[in-house]
Amino acid sequence: MAIKNLLASLLLAAPVALAHPGHHEKVYAHSALPLERKSLAHCSAEFSKPEFIKRTVEIHGEELARLKRSLGLEAEETPKLRPRDYISVSRIDHKSSKAVSKGMDLSTLFSDAGACMLMPAVDQGPLYVQGEEIRKNITNGEKGIPLTLAIQVVDYKTCQTVPNAYVDIWSSNSTGIYVGVQGYPGMGDPKDASILKGTTLRGVQPTNDHGVASFDSLFPGHYDGRATHIHAIVYLGATKQPQHTITGGRAAHIGQLYFDQSLITAVDKVTPYSSNKMKITQNTADFLFMQGANGDDPIVRYAMVGPNLSDGLFAWIRFGINQQANKAVNPAAWWTDKGGVMNPKGPVSQLTGGGTGGWGGWGKKRAAVEPVEDEE
Ligand SMILES: *[C@@H]1O[C@H](CO)[C@@H](O)[C@H](O)[C@H]1NC(C)=O
Ligand SMILES: *[C@@H]1O[C@H](CO)[C@@H](O)[C@H](O)[C@H]1NC(C)=O
Ligand SMILES: *[C@@H]1O[C@H](CO)[C@@H](O)[C@H](O)[C@H]1NC(C)=O
Repeated sequence: MAIKNLLASLLLAAPVALAHPGHHEKVYAHSALPLERKSLAHCSAEFSKPEFIKRTVEIHGEELARLKRSLGLEAEETPKLRPRDYISVSRIDHKSSKAVSKGMDLSTLFSDAGACMLMPAVDQGPLYVQGEEIRKNITNGEKGIPLTLAIQVVDYKTCQTVPNAYVDIWSSNSTGIYVGVQGYPGMGDPKDASILKGTTLRGVQPTNDHGVASFDSLFPGHYDGRATHIHAIVYLGATKQPQHTITGGRAAHIGQLYFDQSLITAVDKVTPYSSNKMKITQNTADFLFMQGANGDDPIVRYAMVGPNLSDGLFAWIRFGINQQANKAVNPAAWWTDKGGVMNPKGPVSQLTGGGTGGWGGWGKKRAAVEPVEDEE
């Protein structure tokens, strides 16, 4: 079976398997309709408050200054910022109307943070590893275009920021490979158990007092069947463990974020992205992107950190979450202090007909995230 078909069937089948019997998710799992459509438009008054903008700008501005200093660039100078490009999808209202000019007030950019309320229909996808470490820099020193990603978590009902949440992100590396999960088609030799040791571009960060979690990552690479994206889960009520992981809590939000197609095209010309021969899927050809962009904007805003794309990118986005939600999470594998372990009931083990790792009673130690009905 082609990877694309596998992916499609997996992504479509998973919500059905995970949903509670009779849950409305079943009805929508095979349609292109989003399960939820909760724009953050009603929050614009809250997000326009001077204090809200000031804090967001301060936090994002500090990140940008830190990145510029690390490059030996003057942090004080007017950052060279690029506007978001328009995406050529007429049905999606993506336009950033902000013109970017020298000496402009950064707050006008950061206040336009993007709003994102993604659909749970696709759950966490087939390549989630639960239990990754709390760490800001998730690059493991790999090559690629540095990407610092700031995610602001807000409650979509109250429009208030959500501090003390944990944001868990994961993506493919610059050449389009996910590590940490053994046996997924196209992601390395299925017999190679060393893949389970991989943690690159996977990690967890807490949100600060203004709801912002930020990561030092790399721009993800493309792979067959999907538009370039980063996965994210927002956990509420999780407990920080001594070994720098989190346990318990619930997944209030499961989403994917995307990039402007023009940016992806530019990145794909840069080494090592250019060596990736896997097929490119455009945003507008990606079923999950279409769902995510239906009613809200899952594309990150971004600025170049230096004059050269290779200097890196700073990207930011806002997630509107339902704090009462508790999404079903079924990881492909778990990260433990002894390394990675496949989940025998996870999407990849099910796909390949049996776990490649051992259960080892590990799941007993780590409180499973019990899915319950969303409270709408
Ligand atoms: C992240 O860590 C790598 C080494 O593992 C380092 O080269 C890189 O500069 C770090 N990124 C940032 C933004 O500090
Ligand atoms: C991406 O990950 C794969 C698997 O670990 C590795 O072979 C490849 O070299 C990585 N790409 C880069 C640019 O490091
Ligand atoms: C941008 O950086 C890349 C990689 O470091 C380098 O090969 C290229 O020459 C640089 N381009 C410019 C215009 O400086």
